[in-house]
Amino acid sequence: MSKEAKLELDGKTFSFPTVEGSEGEKAVDISSLRADTGYITLDDGYGNTGSCVSKITFIDGDKGILRYRGIPIEELAEKSNFIEVAYLIIYGNLPNRAQIENFSGLLTEHSFLHEDMKFHFEGFPAGGHPMAILSAMINAASCFDEELMHWQWGKVKQFDVYVAKLISQVRTIAAYSYRKAHGLPLIYPKKAYKYTENFLHMLFSSPYEDYEIKPEVVKALDLIFLLHADHEQNCSTSTVRMVASSQANLFASASAGVCALWGPLHGGANQAVIEMLQEIHKTGDDGSKFVAAAKDKNSGKKLMGFGHRVYKNYDPRAKIIKQACDEVLSKLQINDPLLDIAKHLEAAALKDSYFVERKLYPNVDFYSGIIMRALGIPMEMFPVIFAIGRMPGWIANYKEIMEDPKSRINRPRQIYIGRTLNSYVPLDDRK
Ligand code: CMC
Repeated sequence: MSKEAKLELDGKTFSFPTVEGSEGEKAVDISSLRADTGYITLDDGYGNTGSCVSKITFIDGDKGILRYRGIPIEELAEKSNFIEVAYLIIYGNLPNRAQIENFSGLLTEHSFLHEDMKFHFEGFPAGGHPMAILSAMINAASCFDEELMHWQWGKVKQFDVYVAKLISQVRTIAAYSYRKAHGLPLIYPKKAYKYTENFLHMLFSSPYEDYEIKPEVVKALDLIFLLHADHEQNCSTSTVRMVASSQANLFASASAGVCALWGPLHGGANQAVIEMLQEIHKTGDDGSKFVAAAKDKNSGKKLMGFGHRVYKNYDPRAKIIKQACDEVLSKLQINDPLLDIAKHLEAAALKDSYFVERKLYPNVDFYSGIIMRALGIPMEMFPVIFAIGRMPGWIANYKEIMEDPKSRINRPRQIYIGRTLNSYVPLDDRK
């Protein structure tokens, strides 16, 4: 029998059941709290709120553990690839040969956008941020598909096709948004290329000449996608679940995820890290002055790429990316001064009592931007790369609540602290 939590309020004792996850994570189920007591819980920023039960991803932030469907991220990074991991995350198991062939076939089949969508790209100004274009165009795709427009949970006929469409087309839209922002002609995907190769082709080929696909570049970018594929109930995934809970369609929900991801505290951090490193480089600082500023709450600065709500240890993705960063820069024979600054910053922060006491370690974004720079990906595309990578996680979370017969609309409560009853004052009587 599970343990009960007891709560004493207004002289009465109330009992609530506890829940234990498969990895021993514990929660008090307060679903009946308001009905039983008249109270709600208040947890600004959701630091202690479990918003759902989920079977997709496990994180132990104190130990620095991340597993997709039980498989450690280190093992997947070494042995798998993004598309296989996408399948694992969405469908729950590693695919067998027939399953992966079918999945890859669907991705190829659905990589083209509706031709009329091309005209919408024309409407964005040159230099428009690709995250804005990505989010708008993912949502706009609903207008070109009858079933997305009239989406009905429980009656979606070909969910697997929409999964493939979204994973495949987010890459096409992302590449087009880059081409548009740079005034370049759009390049269509090619059947012969695999997922990540095709993305590089659509980004960098010209109508005259195909971009030379280097295996080390493909490997590094594929790894970045894989490491971003899911991360349980982060800001963007919670947003996707929130939107999905109203039974909005898959594309609309994913588009909301892109918006949530854009901010510098989340998926925009990789761009913010490079901007920070460039600023440090420009001012001739070796990082020490910046570390001092990041500790000063009045400076308005933070050490971007450091700290995490869940990890109070080294982010396991950051470890993998740091090593990949060294490897890819050496293979491409690139000597980036920003890498030296980043390593110096990391070393300085890891022995500084401010960062040590607060358990602030490098997160996934600290080194990923340096790799992407080395691959020739422009900075404004960094959060877009994150979004492409995170798509399987958003889809898996969408699927999880769509398939849960008990799922209901997400609707948190609040404690109102505004004015009490007030009266309308006619315009002429106002001061
Ligand atoms: N630089 C300096 N101080 C920091 C930093 C940082 N990067 N991160 C946290 N702190 C301080 C914070 O000011 C607070 O200090 P105090 O206790 O004196 O008030 C303490 O550390 C605890 O931080 P918090 O504000 O409670 O942390 P949070 O869980 O609310 O925020 C975070 C997590 C990731 C938003 C934050 O650490 C941050 O802003 N980091 C920089 C942005 C970043 O790298 N974001 C990418 C996150 S990983 C990718 C993803 O999943 O999105």
